[in-house]
Amino acid sequence: MSNRTNHTRRSSSDFPEDFLWGVATASYQVEGAVGEDGRGESIWDAFSRTPGRVRHGHTGNVSVDQYHRYPEDVRLMADLGVGAYRYSIAWPRIQPEGTGAINPRGLDYYKRLSDELHRQGIRSAATLYHWDLPQVLEDAGGWPHRDTAYRFRDYAAACFRELKDHVDMWITLNEPWCSAVLGYGVGEHAPGLRDRTRSWAAAHHLMLAHGLAVQAYRSELGTSGVHRKAPIGITHNLETPRPATQRPGDVEAADRAMDMRTRFFFDPLLGGPYPERHFAAYPKETPPPVHEGDMEVIAEPIDFLGLNFYWEPVIAADRDDPEGFRLVESHHKTTDMGWPVTPRGLYRHLQWVWKESGGRYPLYITENGCAMPDELTPSGLRCHDPRRVSYLREHFTAALDAIEDGVDLRGYFVWSLIDNFEWSYGYTKRFGLIYADYVDQRRVPKDSYYYLREVISGVEEL
Ligand code: FCB
Repeated sequence: MSNRTNHTRRSSSDFPEDFLWGVATASYQVEGAVGEDGRGESIWDAFSRTPGRVRHGHTGNVSVDQYHRYPEDVRLMADLGVGAYRYSIAWPRIQPEGTGAINPRGLDYYKRLSDELHRQGIRSAATLYHWDLPQVLEDAGGWPHRDTAYRFRDYAAACFRELKDHVDMWITLNEPWCSAVLGYGVGEHAPGLRDRTRSWAAAHHLMLAHGLAVQAYRSELGTSGVHRKAPIGITHNLETPRPATQRPGDVEAADRAMDMRTRFFFDPLLGGPYPERHFAAYPKETPPPVHEGDMEVIAEPIDFLGLNFYWEPVIAADRDDPEGFRLVESHHKTTDMGWPVTPRGLYRHLQWVWKESGGRYPLYITENGCAMPDELTPSGLRCHDPRRVSYLREHFTAALDAIEDGVDLRGYFVWSLIDNFEWSYGYTKRFGLIYADYVDQRRVPKDSYYYLREVISGVEEL
């Protein structure tokens, strides 16, 4: 670290001048309107109505109804002062059948949303896949089935073609680890399967889908010109764990823990292979079905790397565990998800990614934030969330430290603009800067919203 001392108070104006502040959401988590304007069914519709999958049987049917209320949400973003909104495009709105004909009414929603953002001077940052696979494609085999990658390429190509005048920043996939492992390996996310072999096949096809989409982007938008000003990247939730002790066994365990959690998703973007050490050590585990040429497709150059960061795990060696390591408790305070608050972990994470990639791609934090048990004041007009304010302050400071120490971090998107459907937790976890009243759809900015506004305007001390 550079020679900062505790006495140097820095302010948010120390971030680079063109630093991009943003907020993030995802289609199924905020849009609602699942049956409108020809939207097809997604795996999350099917999963959330299956008893026992989502807490209290909650679904995204209505959520915060952003599909209808986006003008109000964009106004709130304008008042907040953000430079960009990261949302996701629901594939089943664009291609209700997963393939073929484009649904113009679905496309139109994202055009209207982007137009509204542009009117307020906010950049439109679209993620093409934040987990809502058309159910028909799942019925045909889902991500473990190679063909799904090519279907994604076609869908992505249609989005590039149709939305090129609307979108300012493209993200192919959000956290493919979650889609593959939580969706097909652990069963905690849609489609809810528990099969390791299928989950690594899914992971490979997601990575392939990413590379194919980047190729489609080049063929649709060319390699230069006005549309190339909209950069393209991918968002990962890599983990860079800290060893529980400096004993060689724990250090090695923490390194191994990165193989399938981090290196699998990271190395191939830079032209490397999937972690061979892992498959050599576990011969019973089926390696992903890689065809000739796939790894070159996955390594298609991109413009930036998006990182979602929530916490830094601590890993110890464990002989009784089939993989030889386990997650251990740490002393940190935790959020409402039970996730430890580890801002220095963000600093280490950014450093690791930056160094491992040899500085190849600029970085964006595409998600960071926390769930807290927020409540409105008795007047119903305010929501005091001091723990989120401290969480953000500590993580912003860590990000600034990383920038000052040489990491090319270009922007920071807080998760989330507004409370929303938190996947298998339903509406029980509140991540928003804005409190959502799910009964009357009222939006109440929390203290953290006002805090972020001061940070963005550059007046706030960190
Ligand atoms: C990330 C997801 C996002 C949200 C946050 C809390 O893994 O990308 O949709 O659920 O976690």
